[in-house]
Amino acid sequence: MGKDTQCVHSGSIPDRMSGGLNSPIFTSSSFVYLDADENVYPRYFNTPNQKAVIDKLCTLENTESGLLFSSGMAAISTVVVALVGKGDHVVMQRDIYGGTHHFAGAEFNRFGIDYTLVSNEPADFKAAIRDNTRLIYIETPSNPLLLVADIAAVAEVARSYRIPSAIDNTFASPINQNPHELGIDIVIHSGTKYLGGHSDICCGAVLSSRELIERIKSSAVNFGGSLNASTCHLLERSLKTMGIRVDKQNKNALTIARHLSSHPGIRRVNYPGLETHPGFDIARRQMSGFGGMLSFELDENRIDPQRFVRGLELIRPALSLGGLETIICAPAVTSHVKLSSAERAELGITDGLFRLSVGIEDVDDLISDIDRALAG
Ligand SMILES: Cc1ncc(COP(=O)(O)O)c(C=O)c1O
Repeated sequence: MGKDTQCVHSGSIPDRMSGGLNSPIFTSSSFVYLDADENVYPRYFNTPNQKAVIDKLCTLENTESGLLFSSGMAAISTVVVALVGKGDHVVMQRDIYGGTHHFAGAEFNRFGIDYTLVSNEPADFKAAIRDNTRLIYIETPSNPLLLVADIAAVAEVARSYRIPSAIDNTFASPINQNPHELGIDIVIHSGTKYLGGHSDICCGAVLSSRELIERIKSSAVNFGGSLNASTCHLLERSLKTMGIRVDKQNKNALTIARHLSSHPGIRRVNYPGLETHPGFDIARRQMSGFGGMLSFELDENRIDPQRFVRGLELIRPALSLGGLETIICAPAVTSHVKLSSAERAELGITDGLFRLSVGIEDVDDLISDIDRALAG
């Protein structure tokens, strides 16, 4: 089946009672256990609505099993704490979502976990591996600089040392990139973004082999970050249109990235679909679309970032990403605000850097809005 067919048809619960086309919502948090194959309970990650969504996501990411969480960070933190413990070491990409970066800085130490931040080059991942390394963690394209890591090459490094590898695949979505097929063990999504797609739910997903999911699940039931049936229903409904949404977002983002590239007030445009992007060849190999996310850096001598962002009318300055509407944010005061200014400078996150999450509007309207604000 093609991706759009998988989005619509895989993983739904047949409605045997009324013959309805949609999965029924099972709201119970209490299920009888006599004669049941397993004890069913929301925090055990095995209710019918959780399973239906996981089936769909497993089909889309080509994995055996998975878990749904109440946020992307619940998914990320549970994976790390399930696989890594006191005295262990993690090799982690440096340019990643600010919340994940902050999680490592604020919590790893307390759990006795050591970590090394590396560039997106596979050789750097390899060089950082120690005898006690228990996890290799990447994010590509990364937030907010859209760096591209060679997924197959990083996976190969991890496999050769028999270390589990995990990727944050949020920016790409399962429509544009399927890292498990390229050898990465664990695929993580903030479902709050493209999976949910309408800026109205918060959730996360972890997809992997049956064996690794069982390991992660044994910790996950203790941490308890599972997802309720109503949100599972909204997520299942949203996933049906993910293919067409992401397709339009890919097209709009490429058009906007090309347009911004020729603007004299913009120093740099980060979008993996531009031929000038350093990761373009790798992205073309491992992605089937370049995604709806881009970032750009204003030349602050020519354009005042505050005036620019306040001059936008259609595009709203807002947190999060992956929704139907185009939104903009300055990572220095949003996703990466918890990092020190020295850490931000090291990452290349300046005050003039803006991240655009491109929606499904008519692209000409978006370009007019941006041009007007840049001119103003
Ligand atoms: C790439 C990426 N990963 C993970 C997260 C965390 O997801 P959540 O906010 O659902 O916990 C975010 C949130 O912005 C993100 O952008």
